[in-house]
Amino acid sequence: MPRVLVVGGGGREHAIIRALLRSASKPEIICAPGNAGIAADAEVVDLKVDDVPALIALANDRQCDLVVAGPEAPLVAGLVDACEREGIPCFGPSQDAARLEASKAYCKEVMIASGVPTAAHAEVRTVEEGMAAITGYPTVIKDDGLAAGKGVVIAQNEAEARAALTAFLVDQIHGGDLVVVEEFLDGDELSLLAVCDGDRAIPLAPARDFKRIGDGDTGPNTGGMGAFSPVPGFDLDEAERLVREVHQPVLEEMKRRGTPFHGVLYAGLMIGSKGTKVLEFNVRFGDPETQAVLPRLKSDLYDLMLRATQRGGLEGVELEWDERTSVAVVMASAGYPQTSSSGDVITGLDQLPDGVEALHAGTAFDEDGNVVTAGGRVLAIMALGLKPADARTRAYDGIQMVTFNGSQNRTDIAELIAGDR
Ligand code: AMP
Ligand code: GLY
Repeated sequence: MPRVLVVGGGGREHAIIRALLRSASKPEIICAPGNAGIAADAEVVDLKVDDVPALIALANDRQCDLVVAGPEAPLVAGLVDACEREGIPCFGPSQDAARLEASKAYCKEVMIASGVPTAAHAEVRTVEEGMAAITGYPTVIKDDGLAAGKGVVIAQNEAEARAALTAFLVDQIHGGDLVVVEEFLDGDELSLLAVCDGDRAIPLAPARDFKRIGDGDTGPNTGGMGAFSPVPGFDLDEAERLVREVHQPVLEEMKRRGTPFHGVLYAGLMIGSKGTKVLEFNVRFGDPETQAVLPRLKSDLYDLMLRATQRGGLEGVELEWDERTSVAVVMASAGYPQTSSSGDVITGLDQLPDGVEALHAGTAFDEDGNVVTAGGRVLAIMALGLKPADARTRAYDGIQMVTFNGSQNRTDIAELIAGDR
């Protein structure tokens, strides 16, 4: 029985673990740090996700056959490179290749070099340079570095643009001194993820993410409040076509640079009046897209991940998908995204019917062994249904069963595909 170390403790990692457990080789899973829900599916070990030496020590000590990095932090900290030195296969890109997510300026440079369609942009280091680069409103101001989803501001006017530039470049709230000023694109967003082996990109089923806290896409951005898959208009053939145009040229460019890309390359696409353009790349699975995408994967995830760690290992691989629609709705704690609360007991988790799953994110055990809230996004309720409307109804029925103080969720996830609007 192979042993896998999954690094992370969110809903994405819970979904990855559930999918790994369905693999034919029945892997045994260790997760660091995990959460209360993951603890029911895997052994959890309390380590920080970017403590590379401690993660390597654990993987060696427990003779893991595969390490899987969930979030970007361990990748940017060099987990894959460290695993390689130890001879442990690790699913994800090297530290150099992870720059695609760690630096927005680098990401733009690679997109341009690969001929991938993207918004016009300028790189600036002072507020005045930034103001001079703006050609109209709304405009998009992006901190170059990692900012946990808080590094992008859509400025509607000069005052908002100046405030964002000042926060990023003068106050340096994310610690960097470089900003990308970008043309605003409108349209529908699509999360198109592909599994890559350095040479080849295999699309995962497309998903749509809901980033704003409020119904009707209102209020501040969050880590993501829900997702569904598949997305009407983007079947697997269309996904293949987009991956040939978007992901494949980037893989070629990364090879040319001597930093071949392995793992998940996540393209955030904007499909709008100016055609299909790439907003940016992430170098890992999306959260909460993964909670909607992986429950539909019928192929063997352990085998897929292991192959992706080998150059050219994905040759001949074709993925199989469940035809059903999945809908995942996030339940967040009071105050999210500005603040979050913790320690509230969660009830009803054992009442969910078959085919409706709670994928845990910010959960923990209290002293009495109750499952309690432990952060902003607490969990996602995911349901599958033959019709989109069935999946949506089942997910929201699940939401009614699970309760905790101050819980909040959007009520319009997948409304459009369910024909409710
Ligand atoms: P990010 O955190 O970098 O994924 O960006 C967050 C969100 O900002 C994206 O999902 C989009 O909704 C929005 N965004 C980023 N770039 C643009 C752009 N050029 N035009 C319009 N919206 C954008
Ligand atoms: N759902 C957006 C992300 O994972 O970055």
